[in-house]
Amino acid sequence: MANATATATAGMLSPHVPGMRAGGRDMARLGMVRCWCRARRGKVVCAAPPSSVNVDVLMGNDLSKPHRLPRVVGMGSKLIGCGSAVPKFVISNDDMAEIVETSDEWISVRTGIHKRRVLTGEESVKGLAIEAGKKALEMAHVEPDEVDLVILCTSTPDDLFGTGAQVHTALGCKNAWAFDATAACSGFLVGLITATRFIKGGGYKNVLVIGADSLSRYVDWTDRGTCILFGDGAGAVLVQATAAEEDGFLGFDFHSDGQGYRHLNAKTSVGGTEEVIPSTNGSINFLPKKPAFSFIQMNGKEVFRFAVSSVPRSIVASLEEAGLTNSDIDWLLLHQANWRIIDAVATRLQIPSEKIISNLANYGNTSAASIPLALDEAVRGGKVKGGDIIAASGFGAGLTWGSAIMRWQ
Ligand code: ACO
Repeated sequence: MANATATATAGMLSPHVPGMRAGGRDMARLGMVRCWCRARRGKVVCAAPPSSVNVDVLMGNDLSKPHRLPRVVGMGSKLIGCGSAVPKFVISNDDMAEIVETSDEWISVRTGIHKRRVLTGEESVKGLAIEAGKKALEMAHVEPDEVDLVILCTSTPDDLFGTGAQVHTALGCKNAWAFDATAACSGFLVGLITATRFIKGGGYKNVLVIGADSLSRYVDWTDRGTCILFGDGAGAVLVQATAAEEDGFLGFDFHSDGQGYRHLNAKTSVGGTEEVIPSTNGSINFLPKKPAFSFIQMNGKEVFRFAVSSVPRSIVASLEEAGLTNSDIDWLLLHQANWRIIDAVATRLQIPSEKIISNLANYGNTSAASIPLALDEAVRGGKVKGGDIIAASGFGAGLTWGSAIMRWQ
């Protein structure tokens, strides 16, 4: 094995005061008016509904069908900084061939992956998340104490109860709170959408979204069908409040399907029983299980089929919400799972290959980290520029999948 080289509304902005956020109820008390909005052609159309007007009628909602409630949009939000971090240790495809029966050619041709990085020694998911988060704050010129919320998107926290709070404290985000969001390879998109909701709906100003995972800890290193795919890493973005008319999140779409769970999972509590604890009334014996996880179980063909059919549909739905078409996309940024999936989705959407962002070859599938890790490299490499429209999509275990149309800065 090789060694690693080694507001409220437009015109009604409420200034951000930590601990004093003007939510909907506060705004009503303050005599402010909620803003009912719809996204049209990338712009948010705002109007305060007169009290006598039925909002559904105003919104053109068909009351005979189930429908979404109209959105309360306080503010817009945009991406203003990013960062990433990866472990030092590199495993090439040739190295993999010394671990399982495989070859560089098989892996490269079937997946597009050439190498991946895995955590070793003292490295941790928390450490990568902190490094990525710090870089995102630096790029955004936001001080840690200006952050309101830290969302750590991970399915492999260092602590089962969550690692986000440790990350937030280590970063010095003393005016923020934190939580973990678990949705495997869709995790970062879930975190991103959640961040925009806290900003639009609640007066938060700066939300740090970090995707960090170490699937190398959960793969069966004797299973050549899975161990060749995954790597570890972290990526982060700073989402900041902006005026509604400058909203950089133009559309999104999200789904889950629990039936598809059987195609991709890492189950908990599969360990054997420990000693029997007899009940006090003598009728039932309690058999506690040892805490354990199974290795990642995956039906690669089914996951492949699911991804190439669901992802294009989701992106089209997001584009529709944004009032845009595929020709408006500057960059296609998909979860980095397999080059053949990325290529098939781009082909279906008629997006030319030069508009694809991909660093899969160097890192493999880094789960919730893959989108922000690839974004960070593309931004720092000068590819993605201010104002560019990015179509991003995450997909994976759950099953979960979704997409977002967003503008960089
Ligand atoms: N090296 C050499 N041969 C291999 C390897 C390997 N690493 N892995 C499998 N094979 C063999 C199989 O044993 C099989 O041999 P056989 O024909 O003699 O039976 C043959 O190659 C074909 O195997 P398939 O599994 O049918 O190969 P496939 O073309 O489907 O490629 C792959 C497998 C790469 C896993 C593909 O199905 C895939 O990428 N699927 C999507 C997976 C994915 O994206 N997962 C992540 C989701 S994100 C998340 O939430 C974690």
